[in-house]
Amino acid sequence: MSVGIDEISFYTSNYYLDLRTLAEVQQTDPDKYYEGIGQEKMGMAAPDEDVVTMAANAALPLIERVGTDAVSTLMFATETGIDQSKAAGVYVHRLLGMNNNCRVVEMKQACYSATAAIQMACALVARQPEKKVLVIASDVARYDLDSPGEATQGCGAVAMLISANPRLLEIDPEVGNHTEDVMDFWRPNYRATALVDGKYSTKIYLRALKKAWENFREVSSLAFDDFSHFCYHLPFSRMAQKAHQHLAKLNKADLTPEQIEGQIEDTLLYNRIIGNSYTASMYIGLTSLLENCKQNIAGKKIGFFSYGSGCVAEFFSGTVVAGYEKYLHRSEHKAMLDEREEVSYEKYLELYRYPDPRDGSDLTIEKVTTGRFRLAGFNQHKREYVAS
Ligand code: HMG
Repeated sequence: MSVGIDEISFYTSNYYLDLRTLAEVQQTDPDKYYEGIGQEKMGMAAPDEDVVTMAANAALPLIERVGTDAVSTLMFATETGIDQSKAAGVYVHRLLGMNNNCRVVEMKQACYSATAAIQMACALVARQPEKKVLVIASDVARYDLDSPGEATQGCGAVAMLISANPRLLEIDPEVGNHTEDVMDFWRPNYRATALVDGKYSTKIYLRALKKAWENFREVSSLAFDDFSHFCYHLPFSRMAQKAHQHLAKLNKADLTPEQIEGQIEDTLLYNRIIGNSYTASMYIGLTSLLENCKQNIAGKKIGFFSYGSGCVAEFFSGTVVAGYEKYLHRSEHKAMLDEREEVSYEKYLELYRYPDPRDGSDLTIEKVTTGRFRLAGFNQHKREYVAS
């Protein structure tokens, strides 16, 4: 029996800022963003959206198909936590009308935790193959205004059903891990935005890639040449390009620069216009590959490098399943991305500064999102979510 990803759906906000607009305000060359970091647009959450509403929007098509009783566990990966105690997934469980016998838990380790959730979900499915596990990764990436990280913000959620005999991707059991206590990016409890040592973080990312790959090679018989494509954690798309060139060089790959780029280019398309979605980003990259690759990649091996600052990294592998193209949500994703609204710099600041009450004050939020679920406000320290 194989175990892996049976279905994937993602969601991002209706609003985006074009990085040309940001460059104009900052009097920077737009090519620094379009070429230098490889990003064009960044998603901005509406005032009545957060990780819960984005997650419910991403997961709704999956639950509508399999029904509310098929899922034994909901694992919610995020680093945009909304509560120190209650798992954000419990709100999603209610919004989607899931069975009370379904357990819910929240996972955290920066951008890596969705991968931990998937590995644990595979183990749960191996124990109880008739059940599915719903893994949701949802984040809003926020840096300080006028900081180097500002252009790498974004938001998004991805929902994946993990099942026996999956229809999209069979995940191999062998993994390579690397964990190291470093301060490259972190967000203390009292801050709404992340602190980051940007250049250092890119060096640590590459070091963790080398270490995780070496560990993977010790446990797996697969070598670099066995993979047709690679999905990387995507803080910005240029990071993945650098990482893949690094990995190709480490393996003395006999490939042209165009062939190396061809192994990742389709994974970058959605990220370039959404921005960093932290835990969700690598899996939105996988969706981008499956939905946009011109060749049929059934039977091909995909390599995955998942990285979460702090840091924990993992290299793992999977095989694309024959017939996968029939089970994608390509047209829904395309429509969602095409229908987004571009915002002015002033509107971007308004969205960025929208009140996020940290003092317990009540707040009613008007309906703005075009999504199916929204945050209606805060009342007596409680977040109030409704279907819109
Ligand atoms: P910066 O320092 O302002 O940018 O911000 P820069 O000056 O290094 O320029 C970036 C690139 O653009 C450079 O290319 C420039 O040469 C080029 P490189 O030397 O790197 O190849 N450039 C241009 N290209 C074309 N035309 C031009 C032009 N001008 C410059 N006119 C930095 C870069 C990454 C530091 C910043 O964006 C940042 O701090 N980002 C946030 C941190 C981050 O994303 N780190 C990535 C690794 S850590 C990670 O992935 C984990 C994370 O997702 C969080 C988590 O795990 O939870 C962040």
